[in-house]
Amino acid sequence: MNTRTICFTNNKGGSGKSTTCANLAYELSAAGKKVLMVDGDMQLNLSLSFFEEDEVLAMAENKKNLYYAIKDKDDLTDYIVKTEYDNLDLIPSSTLMSQIEYELFTMMQRELVLKKCLKKVKESGKYDYILIDAPPTLGTWVINILCASDDVIVPVEASPWGLFGLANMFEFIASLEEMTDARVLGVLITKVDERKNYYRQTMEVLDSYESINVFKSVIHVDSMIEWAQDASKPVAVFKKNTRSALEFRELAKELMRL
Ligand SMILES: Nc1ncnc2c1ncn2[C@@H]1O[C@H](COP(=O)(O)OP(=O)(O)OP(=O)(O)O)[C@@H](O)[C@H]1O
Ligand SMILES: [Mg+2]
Repeated sequence: MNTRTICFTNNKGGSGKSTTCANLAYELSAAGKKVLMVDGDMQLNLSLSFFEEDEVLAMAENKKNLYYAIKDKDDLTDYIVKTEYDNLDLIPSSTLMSQIEYELFTMMQRELVLKKCLKKVKESGKYDYILIDAPPTLGTWVINILCASDDVIVPVEASPWGLFGLANMFEFIASLEEMTDARVLGVLITKVDERKNYYRQTMEVLDSYESINVFKSVIHVDSMIEWAQDASKPVAVFKKNTRSALEFRELAKELMRL
């Protein structure tokens, strides 16, 4: 099986990376794809999307989490945790990820540590997709995430500052050309609010980036997303036909066609 690794990056905080990663992963698994999620952020938001807070903290405290795997350059196979859903697994994170830049600093080939730790999982062919949630930074750790990925999805919030810094980020990804084949698969517009006109404004600016694909699917503001996150459930499980659930399903279909 050919495993496709996709990361969600945007150095702008709160743009919808973790929400998209979690719900897209769920929809792909519900469509019968085998999916592994990697929680690359010390905020633990991806893990919290599927597990209760005490379970997440317990995973963060024992040694089977991403922080220790990276620190020890360990094969990630043994770090995989099953979620309650078929075909959907997770490598949990730790709040210690706040120190990961420091740990990486003295390592040889420090940009490629995650890629090497994921090598066996990828080669095992067990998964159709590996989805990696990145933190809102652009340091060595995010370079690791980009180097481990085939594709990048950039969630962008439809808001006045949503596009601020986006050009920087594209340049950052382009500057890694010699290190990674990762390419920007597309920009996903999130948190669209029909009562405001930022969506059109956002589209106009994105249209000016000729080489960048913008996903046809967009994700509207939907309060069910927050309720679902509070209940540690994908939005489609929390409320089956709520607008964002259908939108993430469409996005999964769009992705599977790309
Ligand atoms: N479509 C939506 N409708 C309503 N709320 C949303 C939507 N998408 C995301 N949110 C909320 O916006 C906040 C930011 O979303 P999220 O955590 O996914 O962004 P992020 O890019 O991962 O943030 P960070 O940069 O901190 O990692 C969260 O509180 C989430 O519940
Ligand atoms: Mg996040």
